[in-house]
Amino acid sequence: MRRLFPSPLSPADLDDREWGLDELADFYAYPDAPPAQGGAWLRANMVSSLDGAAHHEGRSQPLSSDADMRIFGTLRGLADAVVVGAETVRQEGYRPARAREAFAARRAALGQGPAPVIAVVSAGLGLDFSLPLFTSPLVPTIVLTGAEAPADRVAEARAAGAEVVVAGEGRGVDPVLVPRALAERGLSRLLTEGGPRLLGQFAAAGVLDEMCLSLAPVMAAGSAPRIAAGPPLEVPERFALGSVLEENGFLFTRYIRHQRL
Ligand SMILES: NC(=O)c1ccc[n+]([C@@H]2O[C@H](COP(=O)([O-])OP(=O)(O)OC[C@H]3O[C@@H](n4cnc5c(N)ncnc54)[C@H](OP(=O)(O)O)[C@@H]3O)[C@@H](O)[C@H]2O)c1
Repeated sequence: MRRLFPSPLSPADLDDREWGLDELADFYAYPDAPPAQGGAWLRANMVSSLDGAAHHEGRSQPLSSDADMRIFGTLRGLADAVVVGAETVRQEGYRPARAREAFAARRAALGQGPAPVIAVVSAGLGLDFSLPLFTSPLVPTIVLTGAEAPADRVAEARAAGAEVVVAGEGRGVDPVLVPRALAERGLSRLLTEGGPRLLGQFAAAGVLDEMCLSLAPVMAAGSAPRIAAGPPLEVPERFALGSVLEENGFLFTRYIRHQRL
């Protein structure tokens, strides 16, 4: 992996070598978040093909690489909570996050639990609550939903061991309330792994602070969505380049919302 931006500190930074998880964790450490969102910082991590596809036949794995998965794992290792849309949970067969030795000391020093909480966003709660994601995570999975979510499904989620958090007045979640609701539970280093419909709402609501975009050197064509879907923002929001790493033609970019600089 090579560091392309910020400009390499020394010629060694341009060397194509494997970065250790500690080095990646330092590179991607969360900033101290100002109190605007209850102290929360919402980072997204997504992979896209050259032509903008956010999945291939329903899965993101065909667009990914070993280095992409190392960064994916590192970003999880740094997060208090992983916020994910219910369709991604269903399509990708989400499992509980693992406690990884590589991040244990760093997490303990920051007072974080052994693994990030997975927070699933759903209106209908059409989720299989008998899955390990709900019944046997290291830390209870959160289900974020609206006040008018189906009561029987809410009861089923709770019976399975999930913590149901209401973050919206109707059936659905108000994306603005998500960082606040999680920060109130002491979860302020937030990572969203999409999918596109959820990410589009976070961007439109003006709560997306940081975008980690892996650009895969592949063409996919087809009808897969871009990494963010849904209604357009009234005015496209500007982000500043934070960093770029490269490995095997993959670009691992990070952009920070201008307002947060
Ligand atoms: N390229 C990447 O990095 C990447 C990352 C993640 C996912 N993906 C791919 O993206 C696809 C899934 O993405 P997607 O955009 O279709 O779905 P998604 O954003 O993962 O999930 C959509 C679902 O989330 C829930 N939801 C979204 N907004 C909500 C709100 N405001 N309130 C309550 N619930 C809300 C709803 O669940 P209910 O239906 O349960 O109400 C909705 O059906 C998969 O194929 C996956 O492989 C790619």
